Amino acid sequence: MSSVTTESDRFLSNGERIIIGHRGLSSLAPENTMAAFRSAVDHQVGWVEADVDIIADGTIIICHDSTLDRTTNRTGRYDDLTVADLAGIDAGGWFSSQFEGEPLPALRDLIELMNEAGLNANIEIKPNEGGKEATLRLIDGVVAQLERLRPGLKVIVSSFSHLLLHLFKQRAPHVPVGCLYESRTLSDDWRSTLEIVGADYIHPEDSGLTREKVQAFRAAGYGVNVWTVNSLSRANELFNWGATGVFSDIAHQIPRR
Ligand code: G3P
Ligand code: CA
Repeated sequence: MSSVTTESDRFLSNGERIIIGHRGLSSLAPENTMAAFRSAVDHQVGWVEADVDIIADGTIIICHDSTLDRTTNRTGRYDDLTVADLAGIDAGGWFSSQFEGEPLPALRDLIELMNEAGLNANIEIKPNEGGKEATLRLIDGVVAQLERLRPGLKVIVSSFSHLLLHLFKQRAPHVPVGCLYESRTLSDDWRSTLEIVGADYIHPEDSGLTREKVQAFRAAGYGVNVWTVNSLSRANELFNWGATGVFSDIAHQIPRR
């Protein structure tokens, strides 16, 4: 079956699929660390994904969970940290001794790598648990960091919180945004949500995703980037259905064409 996308697809520059290293190249290096993002660069993966939230002094950090327990040598929530704490947190040793001492990164660090290496990124803003003021500070902090990107780099901002994403889009209308959905939350009002948010992309979960759904998203004018796809044959099937991109822990193994 041939792909339903074409060379002129506005989401695929030069016909290249969007292959996104999920939390960096997280099969080879600890997720959401600079080592994982640099590994993507080293393996010619053009895009990375990073999860971001805010800490006490307004620094935007990169971390998937709401606590430090799973991916660092510390425990508990990170809300009270400041930027001075980040270098002393080991976010790599849990993965392997090779990465011991790898610090918890700030979004600022990823932006610098993007500028240096010509790396594109999907920044996923985590639904913030600290209330309205913290959420607005988080959004404004991400906008401020993205303003430091050099021209020509591509970025997509996404979130499972479509309300947060709506507020982001109002503040940064020029930045493409994608609504994240788990399979169980992908209800039939997706088109209304995407229109209200002003979304460019939909980022559905892979599990249970059908050809009909992918083609409906594309027919409605949205790019479709699917998470998390760690099977080469499944990635190929999704692209043949018209998906524009995939998030993968093995992004270095997925062909760009
Ligand atoms: O953005 C795609 C994917 O990262 C969403 O799920 O839980 O890995 O952040 P999660
Ligand atoms: Ca994520």
